[in-house]
Amino acid sequence: MTQDGLGVGDVRAFTGRRIMVAGGSRGLGEQIVRLLLAQGAQVAVCARGGDGLQALSSALRAERPSARLFSRAVDVVESGPLERFVEDAAAELGGLDGIVACAGGARGRALEQASAQDWSATWEMNAGYTARLTAAAVPHLRAAGGGSVVVIASISGWKPGPQAQYGTAKAAQIHMVSSLARELGPDNIRINAVSPGSMLIPGKRWDRMRREDPEAFDRFRTEFPGRELVSPQEVAEVVAFLLSDRSGGVTGANIPVDKGQNAPTADGY
Ligand SMILES: NC(=O)c1ccc[n+]([C@@H]2O[C@H](COP(=O)([O-])OP(=O)(O)OC[C@H]3O[C@@H](n4cnc5c(N)ncnc54)[C@H](OP(=O)(O)O)[C@@H]3O)[C@@H](O)[C@H]2O)c1
Repeated sequence: MTQDGLGVGDVRAFTGRRIMVAGGSRGLGEQIVRLLLAQGAQVAVCARGGDGLQALSSALRAERPSARLFSRAVDVVESGPLERFVEDAAAELGGLDGIVACAGGARGRALEQASAQDWSATWEMNAGYTARLTAAAVPHLRAAGGGSVVVIASISGWKPGPQAQYGTAKAAQIHMVSSLARELGPDNIRINAVSPGSMLIPGKRWDRMRREDPEAFDRFRTEFPGRELVSPQEVAEVVAFLLSDRSGGVTGANIPVDKGQNAPTADGY
């Protein structure tokens, strides 16, 4: 809450702001897109699947006819299409004030089963594209007089867990924001990481475990002091705060949003 009693969830917070979200047709990215549009932002969003983007665009147009949403099917690991999307999003929205690197994931399994390609692919789908996306967006943020970059990392970036290639790539994102904050600060560009804990997303891994193996889910819940997993909406609120002027004093930071989670997965150490 601010002195005037307004939180960043208020409609006025993003009026006129132009934000691009990489990886936003479902899961956390969808909640970020929904929150930003609800607060008055113009949003550009990409994902690999055109069907998912189309479904989200149709739903949002029905719910919020005045919403300005520009979408395109782009795989962020493909150098070229990602940078073109940044250029076209800036042209479509009339500039950029903020970007969110939300897409992420992992390839391969444990060390002896994971190939060199699994390691390099996992790097590219988290840290590698984040660097290219930020580099492509910087000229537009600079032209806007400054801006905010939010990188979705993970508590796996510093808590040991299976699939070391994933935690390693998330750690790289967290380090990246601390270095780039110094490099981009003179242009009034802030950059921060948000590290979600295990999110309860309808249809995804932990929600499936909750329905299909309630005993295992109950054991996993003991990793959280309040016995509840964090929701993607709660994570999106922190992303919106970091994109907003309310967080003008924050750059180079990594903010966990995890309800105090201990081990980063149900198979954690
Ligand atoms: N889920 C969790 O509990 C959790 C916990 C900690 C951190 N995180 C991090 O939070 C972020 C979002 O997680 P999530 O579970 O919400 O992800 P998700 O459901 O797998 O995907 C989120 C969005 O990103 C898009 N996407 C995925 N890969 C993409 C790519 N290569 N190019 C373009 N778009 C892509 C997806 O659409 P398409 O599939 O159609 O491309 C979807 O719209 C990730 O960085 C993840 O590592 C997640």
